Amino acid sequence: MNMETTLAPVQRALPDAQIVTEVTHWSEQLFSFRVTRPQSLRFRSGEFVMIGLPGENGKPLLRAYSIASPAWDDTLEFYSIKVPDGPLTSRLQHIRPGDAVILRPKPVGTLVHDALKPGWRLWMLATGTGVAPFASLLRDPETYEKYDRVILMHTCREQVELAYGAALVKGLEDDPLIGEMAAGKLHYYPTTTRENGPRMGRITDTLASGQVFADLGLPGPLTAETDRVMVCGSLDFNRDVKALLEGWGLHEGANSDPAEFVVEKAFVG
Ligand code: A2P
Repeated sequence: MNMETTLAPVQRALPDAQIVTEVTHWSEQLFSFRVTRPQSLRFRSGEFVMIGLPGENGKPLLRAYSIASPAWDDTLEFYSIKVPDGPLTSRLQHIRPGDAVILRPKPVGTLVHDALKPGWRLWMLATGTGVAPFASLLRDPETYEKYDRVILMHTCREQVELAYGAALVKGLEDDPLIGEMAAGKLHYYPTTTRENGPRMGRITDTLASGQVFADLGLPGPLTAETDRVMVCGSLDFNRDVKALLEGWGLHEGANSDPAEFVVEKAFVG
């Protein structure tokens, strides 16, 4: 398919349209997809954009989606839940290559390197589809240039929900450039909470108990001097992780005021 010739007529009919190039279904509830990248779109790994479809009333139906692909990539990847009665995802889950989606090219977000002070370790803490911004950051060479240790903790209820993150990490190891940069630096710590698996437990619990440090052979707990953290999950998860990090003396940062950790809600619906 030649995307350039496909895109022009679609964009005349639907401004901000991009064409779907690839769709992967990871489970009954989860899928990822790639779309063409607007030529003018610049973003920082970890940011999100508004994605959607034309609504029934003619108004676009848009939701915030983290860009899961790195800033250097030609196409844009997104990772989504399928909510049977979700206004957008009940329809979006049926997209196929060649279909059009709306993408507002205004990237924003706080899960960016600029919002953190320099540090020794970077922790990426995600539940569910909250792993998406980290799929971008973990494929960005800057992440390994900035940190000596990068730890991805991803927790889901069931094993099948970990598949996207596991494939991501496998892809990093096999990538000639990133694989070399990540070797010896990247630690992956997937856990489940409701289905038995090799590792179990909530991120808050494995951090607080020290289990994760023991399992990975890393010193704990986190300190404001050495550790930087990016957090992306449900509101409850974000709140509880924030309390834990503040208890260790870390402060929340922002683009305008970098500090030791940043938080963003994983988008659903
Ligand atoms: P649990 O199964 O013990 O509730 P959800 O699908 O509800 O968003 O949860 C996704 C994952 O995040 C689950 O493994 C869940 O664990 C975990 N989780 C939910 N809330 C919290 C929280 N407040 N602190 C830590 N982990 C949480």
